[in-house]
Amino acid sequence: MTIVLALIAVLAAISVAWRLFSRRHVLPCPSWLRWMVELDNPFAASNKAAFIVEQLKIQPGMQVLDAGCGPGRVTLPLARAIGAHGQVLAVDLQPAMLEQVAAKAHAQGLHNVRTQAAALGGGALEAGQHDRAVIAAVLGEIPDRAAAMADLFHSLRPGGLLAVAELVFDPHFQRRATVERLACDAGFIPHSFHGHAAAYLLVLQRPLTP
Ligand SMILES: C[S@@+](CC[C@H](N)C(=O)[O-])C[C@H]1O[C@@H](n2cnc3c(N)ncnc32)[C@H](O)[C@@H]1O
Repeated sequence: MTIVLALIAVLAAISVAWRLFSRRHVLPCPSWLRWMVELDNPFAASNKAAFIVEQLKIQPGMQVLDAGCGPGRVTLPLARAIGAHGQVLAVDLQPAMLEQVAAKAHAQGLHNVRTQAAALGGGALEAGQHDRAVIAAVLGEIPDRAAAMADLFHSLRPGGLLAVAELVFDPHFQRRATVERLACDAGFIPHSFHGHAAAYLLVLQRPLTP
C-alpha cells in the first residue's frame, strides 16, 4: 500500500512539474519516460488501448494510422485487430519511440506495422490513405495543433474515423471544447464521445462528401 501511494505521489509530482514547464516550452514525452505511457492507465477506461480499438470499429484488412504512437501502447493492439491484410502506420517524431514499436512488433510476430519518423502538423502524411486514425495523449505536445488536425483529416479516406484520447493526468491535456473546435475547423464532424471531462475518447468522422 505504501509503495502504491509513493508511486502515485511521484507520478503526481512529475505531472505538475511538467505541466508548469510546458506552459513555456514544447517538450514531447521523452522516450526514457515511456514506461509511464505504457501503463495503459487503469483509472481511465476510455483511454485504454482495447477500448480505443473497440470504439473505432476496427475491421480486418483496414489501414490505420497511430499518430504520435510513442512506444506502441495502442499500435500493437491495432495491428492484432486488423490482421495480416491490414496495416498500421505508426508515426512519431522520436526515432527512439519508433525503434521500440518495431522491436515489439517483431517480437510478437506482427508484420503489418510500418513506422514513419515525422512531425504531425508538417504536412508529411500521405493523403486519403487511412480508414481509421488514433491520436492518444499527443495533441497538447504539438505546437501547431490546427495544422496537425488538418494533416489527420487529409490522411483519412472520406467516411474515415479519428479517435482523440485525452487524460487529465497528462501534462499536455486538452479540454474537450478545445479539441472539438480544432476538429470542426479541420472539417471533421462529431461521431461519438466516451468518458467524461477529465478522461475521454472523442471519435470524429471525415464526412463522406466534401
Ligand atoms: C504521451 S506520448 C503518447 C504515446 C501513445 N499515443 C500512447 O497513447 O501511448 C506522446 C507521443 O507523441 C509524440 N509526439 C509529440 N509531438 C509530436 C508530433 N508533432 N508529431 C509526431 N509525434 C509527436 C511524442 O514523441 C510521444 O511519443
